[in-house]
Amino acid sequence: DALEALNSLWFEHKGIYFDASITSPEMIDSVKHMEIRDSDVFLVTYPKSGTIWTQQILSLIFNEGHRNGTESIDNWTRMPWIEANVRNVDFKTHPSPRTLTTHLPYYLMPRELRIRMGKIIYVCRNPKDVMVSYYHFYKMNPKLKYEINWETFINLFISGRVFIGSWFDHVRGWYTHKEDFNILFLTYEEMKKDLRSAVLKICKFVDINLDEKAIDTVVQRSTFKNMKDDPLSNYSFVPKDLLDQSKGNFLRKGIVGDWKNIMTVAQSEMFDKVFKEKMGDLPTTFLWDL
Ligand code: A3P
Repeated sequence: DALEALNSLWFEHKGIYFDASITSPEMIDSVKHMEIRDSDVFLVTYPKSGTIWTQQILSLIFNEGHRNGTESIDNWTRMPWIEANVRNVDFKTHPSPRTLTTHLPYYLMPRELRIRMGKIIYVCRNPKDVMVSYYHFYKMNPKLKYEINWETFINLFISGRVFIGSWFDHVRGWYTHKEDFNILFLTYEEMKKDLRSAVLKICKFVDINLDEKAIDTVVQRSTFKNMKDDPLSNYSFVPKDLLDQSKGNFLRKGIVGDWKNIMTVAQSEMFDKVFKEKMGDLPTTFLWDL
């Protein structure tokens, strides 16, 4: 069944399911000991929450909107993953400022971040849209031979039996430990509503002053359409054995509220109940529609 098919693709480590084809328990554990520089910026997300979008924005900000000769470099290289070192980056010798990406929960992050060294940008998205996006993303997994239907996927998502585990735990963990880190919280929805303001917020947080023209370029190059057409920003460079993009696009729809097109009223109400139980005590709010 669905879970059996998944069991062959992942391993569980410290409460999280990881993709066995790109990382290992040793690689994940080594992250804890990574030496942090004050100039480091980590982008942290739960999957399908706007990771590659923010990778694009951040790397453009760090290169004044025009990438300074990095035009031919893809996002995996511009913002390497720390727990799945697919580009074999030597983090020790990597030039500053390092801009890095991760899906890790707060407790698996480099220890030194917890003395508020470095900077973290945490991007989250309303979980119904995350779940829909994740469901479509699973279809592109070439190793998954068993098709998981939507109803099953909802149950897997709610019980945290998906890559990177529970959305609820991830967001709660990061949110309730925010005082330990030097962190900026952003939402997918606010980026969608007003991209320019989000870009300015990020600039301020990472202490980079761009002129109006550079800001315009960052915004323009980070729109859904422009990213979709940019082969170095749309993840089309990801090898076929990791992602079968004949079955879908990484940049799929890029909207807020797509869950309404697939969730039944009953599914949505059930999800609302779970959300209230698991997240009701947090002061966080999510936009479910624009
Ligand atoms: P959809 O599947 O809902 O379209 P991640 O990068 O964390 O895996 O998230 C992927 C989701 O972000 C996808 O959502 C993708 O379309 C969306 N996305 C990527 N770039 C975007 C952009 N520039 N604007 C809006 N959404 C974007």
